[in-house]
Amino acid sequence: MLATAAIILAAGQGTRMRSRLPKVLHPLAGRPILGHVLDAVGRAGVEHRVVVVGHGAEEIETFLAGAPSVRQDPQLGTADAVRVGLDRVPTSVRQVLVTVGDAPLIPAELFEAVLREQADGEAAIALLSAEMADPTGYGRILRDERGDSRAIVEEADADPGTHAIGEINVGTYCFDAGWLRANVGNVPASAKGEFYLTDLVAMAAGAGRRVRVVSAPDPQLTMGINDRVQLAVAERLMRRAIAERHMRSGVTITDPATTYIDAGVEIGQDARIEPWTVLKGSTVIGQDAVIGPNAQVVDSGIGPRSLVWASIVEESEVAEDVEIGPYSHLRPGCRIGPRCRIGNFAELKKSQVGAGTQQHHFSYLGDAEVGEDVNVGAGAVTANFDGVNKHTTVIGTGAFIGVDTTLRAPITIGPGAKTGAGAVVTRDVAAGKTVVGMPARPIELRRARRQAVAAAESAHGAEPAGAGDRNSQPGGGAPLSDA
Ligand code: UD1
Ligand code: CA
Repeated sequence: MLATAAIILAAGQGTRMRSRLPKVLHPLAGRPILGHVLDAVGRAGVEHRVVVVGHGAEEIETFLAGAPSVRQDPQLGTADAVRVGLDRVPTSVRQVLVTVGDAPLIPAELFEAVLREQADGEAAIALLSAEMADPTGYGRILRDERGDSRAIVEEADADPGTHAIGEINVGTYCFDAGWLRANVGNVPASAKGEFYLTDLVAMAAGAGRRVRVVSAPDPQLTMGINDRVQLAVAERLMRRAIAERHMRSGVTITDPATTYIDAGVEIGQDARIEPWTVLKGSTVIGQDAVIGPNAQVVDSGIGPRSLVWASIVEESEVAEDVEIGPYSHLRPGCRIGPRCRIGNFAELKKSQVGAGTQQHHFSYLGDAEVGEDVNVGAGAVTANFDGVNKHTTVIGTGAFIGVDTTLRAPITIGPGAKTGAGAVVTRDVAAGKTVVGMPARPIELRRARRQAVAAAESAHGAEPAGAGDRNSQPGGGAPLSDA
């Protein structure tokens, strides 16, 4: 039997956001506002969650991806919304949690407290209240002598005495499901022709049923988001809560104020997040990793003990004991093997790099499959784009790509092969071979050709080719190191 269900109200217009995007879909710590609400209600143990949609219904339904929702059209007020939502609540349900879709900071524990209060107090309603320094705009809570609520008075209907009440209605309630079904249709229309859910409080009290009140210990967390100023306030609060959660579970965050961690990010024990770091989306950081200062990691995995500083990693997987940065950019689709070193000003795109490979200096690998223990020299680039198509570069294990080498894809550099400094490699290189020059050719061929030329010139009494010849042939006899 399903004991509890939740109805989440999200049909309103959210005019003050001044946005084409429905209010509840605005992102907060990397996830739509509504996503946080659904998540917290779920963590409170309520699996059956129905979202009432109206304005921007299609977009919200797309986000919900098949999770239960119901359309309220026209939007005739919060009681009308709950009445519509109840159609999707199984009759076996005993408790109905109702909350608003735009209050994303309410923690699961508060929902649990309201559910418990309703059940324990055998109340028709338990509701969440908060003490606000400025209660303007909220419904005010009137209490009776036992501390129950006897009515909620909306701002527009409040007299000066009621205006002075600082205890407000958050918009989160737990109802006795049977009582709610019997009474939600009996709410009278307001002067504006709307049906106020809050009227049920006076109706329950008038019928001798209890209406219990749970006070939120931290009123800030009950805030609803109506405009983008409040969105930024919520973002700051949410970010602080996320950072504290990670710190409590064993992550060092040097400066939470300059660290931005999305709600969905996972971080392993003893990892250290340094200042000015942004971790977004579904990023997973391994144990003992160090991220930052000045790093941005988006939808990526960073393995244990790896280091990423002053660099950007997007949609890529980095194994353990890797060092990235400073000033490197892993674009989407990279897989970096263990113990690699991706150094200063390196760019990689859609490339696989085997264990222990070194790419210390400014260079570019695009659409490359790189083996283990490869050295990618300073300034080496894959010419992966011919103006129409992208092509693959394969570099075998143990290969040595000299400084300033251009690899014109599609091309395969065999295991253990070497390229000379400045080589422009246009043909595949066999395993263990060395190519030099522009266009690059096997070093034996070049040597033989040079010797033949020198022999011919000396036979004609000319000076033998010397250092000047090397200068005119970049890479002809150039060193292979990238130091
Ligand atoms: C409501 C409460 C008020 C409380 C405040 C907290 C009522 C009558 N008043 O006022 O006591 O202090 O919330 O924020 O309930 N919605 C629908 N369908 C509708 C109307 C509203 O789904 O027909 C949704 C909105 O999208 C929103 C929520 O219900 O998420 C609250 O509606 P809103 O119009 O913001 O109510 P308030 O006037 O703020
Ligand atoms: Ca509101």
